[in-house]
Amino acid sequence: MNAQDQALFDRVTASFAEQFGHAPDLVVRAPGRVNLIGEHTDYNDGFVLPCAIGPANMVAISKRDDDMIEVVAADFENARDSFALTPRPERNLSQPWADYVRGMLSALQKAGCTLSSAKIAIAGNLPKGAGLSSSAALTVAVGKANLALNGIDMDNIRLAQIAQRAECDFVGTQCGIMDQLISAQGKADHALLIDCRSLELTDVRISDDIAIMIVHSGVTRGLVDGPYNARRRQTAAAAAAMGVTALRDANLDMLAAARLDAVTTARARHVITENQRTLDAADALAKSDLAALGKLMAQSHVSMRDDFEITVPAIDDLVAQLQDAIGNQGGARMTGGGFGGACVAIMPRSRVADVQAAIETTYKTPNGNAPLIIFERPGPGAAIL
Ligand code: GLA
Repeated sequence: MNAQDQALFDRVTASFAEQFGHAPDLVVRAPGRVNLIGEHTDYNDGFVLPCAIGPANMVAISKRDDDMIEVVAADFENARDSFALTPRPERNLSQPWADYVRGMLSALQKAGCTLSSAKIAIAGNLPKGAGLSSSAALTVAVGKANLALNGIDMDNIRLAQIAQRAECDFVGTQCGIMDQLISAQGKADHALLIDCRSLELTDVRISDDIAIMIVHSGVTRGLVDGPYNARRRQTAAAAAAMGVTALRDANLDMLAAARLDAVTTARARHVITENQRTLDAADALAKSDLAALGKLMAQSHVSMRDDFEITVPAIDDLVAQLQDAIGNQGGARMTGGGFGGACVAIMPRSRVADVQAAIETTYKTPNGNAPLIIFERPGPGAAIL
């Protein structure tokens, strides 16, 4: 276990022992993710290219012998939530973090799993508001821990689908499958090309001399469910108007012929072009063609800015500064759902010190600080420790 995981493991097991008076039966780790390219394509049956990262959530768990689930959140001063498994858990509006636990247990039950009561401690080290999927890392960790506790065998695709249901049906974000699937299925040193229709998965090796840099803009994502769900409705409306199941099945000629209003056209154009860019980027990454990859990332950012309208000015500036510092061997773009959060940059490993120094000089977060910068090699997906 690396130092970062060890510290998190110590924290979650200490919180568990302090609150419940004994050691947990098992601990599960599920990572956050960074998406290299393919944004807002997952719920349009398209393609995405994320990788799992080092920062993660951990869940420590043991059985109890009544019908109750008791949860303690080490990151919220050991705040507690307790609820019965029958009837199925309902929302706890006073503690939003608890809804991901309740939602996942409810979704597992809906999927036919018989769960026992449990004591659970959770802790994480994903930066807040960075759009690195702390919620998916939590639902996947809670799911895997409860499955293991109950001796239920389940493949990662099914686990991710159930975690997605927890967010869509319980919490109310109409998200796609990307975050949960990469958290469950990530592989060290690889990005994962996901066909979000067939759920065919293709590992794409990232050569050792390539670095992935994540820069948190410091603009935290506020309440983004509204604009996110609106994008989902707009793209579904565009597909329906063209008579296709999803934008995955449309092309730019069909879009031109459909004569939709300007906003709907722009939203659809982003998804249609982003799908092709994602496939091209997977090819470029497999060949370590950083020049081609950089161009695709730049086009993706412009498309998110102008057509999908999910970037913010501070992020546009940060991406421009990253691109300036990197030059043409690599690129940068906003990553994740949008409206704040982090940018992802790809470059030769030999350039990271220069690029980091440049960004720490040119970019300031809204608080006037240098941004949080983390370097990542893709890490493994969720596992029992
Ligand atoms: C969020 C969602 C994902 C995906 C991205 C945008 O992270 O959870 O399903 O739609 O936004 O690509």
